[in-house]
Amino acid sequence: MTQQASLLASRVGAGRADGGRRYRSVDPAHTGQVVAEVLLAEPATFVGACRAARDAQPGWAATPAPVRGRVVKYLGRLVEDNREALARLVTREIGKPLAESRGEVQEIIDTCDFFAGEGRRLYGQTVPSEMPDKQLFTFRQPVGVAAVITAGNFPVAVPSWYLVPALLCGNAVVWKPAECAPATAEALAQLCWHAGLPDGVLNLVQAEGPATFEGLEAALDAGLVDKVGFTGSTEVGRRIGELCGRHLQVPCLELGGKNPLVVMPDADLDLAVEGALFSGFGTAGQRCTSLGTVIAHQAVHDEFLARFTAAVEGAAIGDPFQDVLYGPMIDRRFFDRFLGWLDLVQPHHRVQGSTGTGRITAANPRPGFVGDPEDGLYCHPMVVSGITGADELYRRETFGPIVGVAECGSLEEAVELANGHGYGLSAAIYTRDPATAFRFRSGVSAGMVSVNNSTSGAEAHLPFGGNGRSGNGSRQSGMWVLDQFTRWQALNWDYAGRLQKAQMDVAEAIPDLDFRL
Ligand code: UN1
Repeated sequence: MTQQASLLASRVGAGRADGGRRYRSVDPAHTGQVVAEVLLAEPATFVGACRAARDAQPGWAATPAPVRGRVVKYLGRLVEDNREALARLVTREIGKPLAESRGEVQEIIDTCDFFAGEGRRLYGQTVPSEMPDKQLFTFRQPVGVAAVITAGNFPVAVPSWYLVPALLCGNAVVWKPAECAPATAEALAQLCWHAGLPDGVLNLVQAEGPATFEGLEAALDAGLVDKVGFTGSTEVGRRIGELCGRHLQVPCLELGGKNPLVVMPDADLDLAVEGALFSGFGTAGQRCTSLGTVIAHQAVHDEFLARFTAAVEGAAIGDPFQDVLYGPMIDRRFFDRFLGWLDLVQPHHRVQGSTGTGRITAANPRPGFVGDPEDGLYCHPMVVSGITGADELYRRETFGPIVGVAECGSLEEAVELANGHGYGLSAAIYTRDPATAFRFRSGVSAGMVSVNNSTSGAEAHLPFGGNGRSGNGSRQSGMWVLDQFTRWQALNWDYAGRLQKAQMDVAEAIPDLDFRL
């Protein structure tokens, strides 16, 4: 895709489904350039997509799992062969630095590598019966139709965490990507379709949030959706959880975070600074795994803060096609919302890390900026020290280039601060002491813990997900996600030729429990 913006529409079954309104996705590094124009779907289109998925699903479920695995393998190969084009499109549409976009595309390939083989496993179990001439088994059954709603910050990797295992397990999918990345979504969907998926098995609906919610509600009412996967805000996740609960469904929810990074007195401080810099400011702080608050032990707090501030001040920010720490905000909505959070800075805080706050412009410049800041939606990085557990900035996910720094006096206090906001996605600790690392691991409520590494950057085959305000305990990735997209079916097979009653017709072992040595 070059300067010419393409007109995109939802694709439901074999056909294109158009909505009434149009949306333009804009390059956030060059706000004068339109990347794609999309026809936004109405709720009825979403319902139609679920119906097409419902019709296509039995045929897909009847396709042997190893054959479905080959489709996943071909998807991985297609992504690999198109990796540079896809990475460049991600950077162009949401402003992520190219090196990170390449990493994001790699995450799809890794996911395909893992699940291509799962097509030849997808194991069930043979289980002994308590009665003779009877055998028990378990089978993984596909759930049916999965509705997947994803966010703009990882417009292809995170969708692949849902799409790839859901499809591999024999489900049909309706995917509603983020409005801000329609061209990127269309590209991933095209790669999936060209990998050999039959019509109707993957349906792409380009729509806004409210129309999607309405469509989802109607599709659930009509019995057309069996599983919802959602990555996004805690607020919307709560609404989706309520909606699914009414239908006795448990959605897979991947929500926000306020991820802590603890620095203990025995930490390698330079390593901790490097980790905090990438966790806090990679993707301009717009990952759900981005660092929220550094919790530095008082013995190293001042030294850590000085080195961290110097690193942030010296970091290159700007054109995401160049070698920068971060580029623009994802789009105007993310940019406006981030600027709104700056009001949370209080008089007892100290702000460092740049020459200004808010938008980087010619009048509010950042030394060493790469490119022309006036072209895009760029924000100054902020290191806000003096954070306490009572601050709004401590408990609020701020999704942008801002990192808080708090002080603690002990590991216990660090754990309390790490958990106190109620999020529980990712947490990191820098220490050389194994006992400290293990105590932190068991005390922290996060679903993912790093020792001497960043809060972000989870590998594609470990369980990904959070607790509390970060999610409902569901996990994506690796073998753990199979429980999201399959249901266990138990099979009793009796070949005794007479009714054997469980718990009643069971032979008793006769022990001598008074026996002593
Ligand atoms: C997200 O921000 O929704 O662990 C996902 C990471 C990435 C995925 C982030 N692999 O930071």
